[in-house]
Amino acid sequence: MNNDILKTLYSKEDITDACRRLGQQITTDYKDRKPVVVGVLKGAIFFMTDIVREMDLYMDIDFIDVSSYHGGTASSGTIELMKDIDVDVNGRDVIFIEDIIDTGRTLKYLEDLLAERGARSIKVCTLMDKPEGRVVEAKADYVGLEVPNEFVVGYGLDYQGKYRNLPYVGVLKPEVYSDK
Ligand code: XMP
Ligand code: MG
Repeated sequence: MNNDILKTLYSKEDITDACRRLGQQITTDYKDRKPVVVGVLKGAIFFMTDIVREMDLYMDIDFIDVSSYHGGTASSGTIELMKDIDVDVNGRDVIFIEDIIDTGRTLKYLEDLLAERGARSIKVCTLMDKPEGRVVEAKADYVGLEVPNEFVVGYGLDYQGKYRNLPYVGVLKPEVYSDK
């Protein structure tokens, strides 16, 4: 699996540092509040588990699953809700934990969904931001790492279901897209 990687963009240590920095920032910002922290499946699984352990806060933890990619490297444009959260967010402070913001469509969909349900505040914390990919206006409140307009894999991010378990973030060799 490591053989398919052309270059590493962010090492395990870079990711650990980003988790620590953002976790401490959120701890300060949400002092004396009890947010609902919602991990966006599946890409954010590792980021979610790492970052919540950097937050010295009482919280509810939940997960939501939306789909926009259908296995390729280009966003399809339509978002489908695959798994909803269980917590009632009416009057609550919500923090979404995302792997990456690209076109911004997923973020917009998620914010609209929970705003309709009466969330008191909605903030977004993303490990990676790909600002050049934006199609709709969307801004994350907490950003770990910026990435160029390239398709990245690892630390939760996949290509056709693979590479999520890489401990770092990298770019695939071009031949991988045609071969497998
Ligand atoms: P949008 O375009 O809605 O994208 O902001 C959000 C979701 O799209 C996936 N995504 C990627 N997945 N490598 C991936 O493996 C990438 O470079 C990439 N860019 C976007 C991801 O699931 C994200 O939550
Ligand atoms: Mg995702």
